[in-house]
Amino acid sequence: MNFPSNRIGQIPPYLFAEINKKKAEMIKAGVDIIDLGIGDPDLPTPKHIIDKLTEEAQDPKNLKYPSFVGCPEFKQAVADFYFREYGVILDPETEVLALIGSKEGISHIVPTLIDPGDYVLIPDPSYPVYRMATLLANGQCHHMPLTKENNFVPDFEAIPKAIVERSKLMFLNYPGNPTSATVELPFFKRAIAFAEKHKIPIAHDSAYNMVTFDSYKAPSILQVEGAKEIAVEFGSLSKTYSMTGFRIGYVVGNREIIKALSVLKSNTDTGQFTPIQRAAAYALNSDQSCVTQYNQIYKDRMTAMLDGLKSIGVEVEPPKGSFFIWSPVPSGYTSAEFVTNVLEQTGVIITPGNAFGPSGEGYFRVSLSVPNERLYEAVNRIKQNLKIVIG
Ligand SMILES: Cc1ncc(COP(=O)(O)O)c(C=O)c1O
Repeated sequence: MNFPSNRIGQIPPYLFAEINKKKAEMIKAGVDIIDLGIGDPDLPTPKHIIDKLTEEAQDPKNLKYPSFVGCPEFKQAVADFYFREYGVILDPETEVLALIGSKEGISHIVPTLIDPGDYVLIPDPSYPVYRMATLLANGQCHHMPLTKENNFVPDFEAIPKAIVERSKLMFLNYPGNPTSATVELPFFKRAIAFAEKHKIPIAHDSAYNMVTFDSYKAPSILQVEGAKEIAVEFGSLSKTYSMTGFRIGYVVGNREIIKALSVLKSNTDTGQFTPIQRAAAYALNSDQSCVTQYNQIYKDRMTAMLDGLKSIGVEVEPPKGSFFIWSPVPSGYTSAEFVTNVLEQTGVIITPGNAFGPSGEGYFRVSLSVPNERLYEAVNRIKQNLKIVIG
């Protein structure tokens, strides 16, 4: 066979394949499985956003090809959001681009900025798309380990000089998936200083920017003076407003990078459906009490799950953002062994940490995006049924 391409052939097999096989067997055997593996919010999209979508879909001119450069109302709404939340001024025409979900832009930014053989600096563990997009662009991944010791932020000084010289892009992501780590502005200042010194553009993925708890507010990297010279920030409506299926996100910041990305995009896609962009603009411009309400639900679930884990001897610092818990496995287990034990003994699926990169080994991730009654049922099963043997 002379297909597929080497590019596709090098993509590693799906890491959840083993777990999915076991899940299918257990469902067949009648086990009631609770899946805390996926990061797709169960909470409904707020009604006012759906109403706006259906209203916009009635207008025939909204059903044509959308504009290549994105719908002006959406780009203005993103610019207004940045000013309101962060005091950052953006030109909606040149410094904001609409995306078909942030994943689309995150994967397309890689071939926009790198040539074959160039390095991309990637947090490890992290959202797998950074790695896969790099492989698909024939680039090379350099992992920046995120460990508990370094508070789950990269040590820029530890990156070998020879790699720094060949790097054309660095990804960052806070609040982080899977680590749920959060940062304050001084970290972004250090990141921008490093990027400026070595002329390496930063793509900050802020998909969970508004999923935060109590008084914590996640900063934007664009709040750092001069950040727009070297950085872009990806954002998404998926998690904030439970709009994952809408496929709407944005990238903001450096205008040359955004222009280059729009060249690639205008030759691959034709933009998101206009009613979706308009409904997204409406979501950003409307009353934000749904966001506060949803964050409280995630916070309560988090407290319940942390309590469940504590009862089996696993203690984790309560995260300030995201809807994930990132925890070390009990001693004596690998990530895969622990996750398999949890599944076999409780019917609860959690994700092995190494699915997010080699430094994730020894950890597991719990996603809190299932309805309350299922989440609390999972907590009870863990408390009552899980027997762990400390090695
Ligand atoms: C860290 C991170 N970035 C980006 C995305 C993509 O989000 P979307 O494409 O729905 O905007 C996800 C989705 O799970 C994510 O976890």
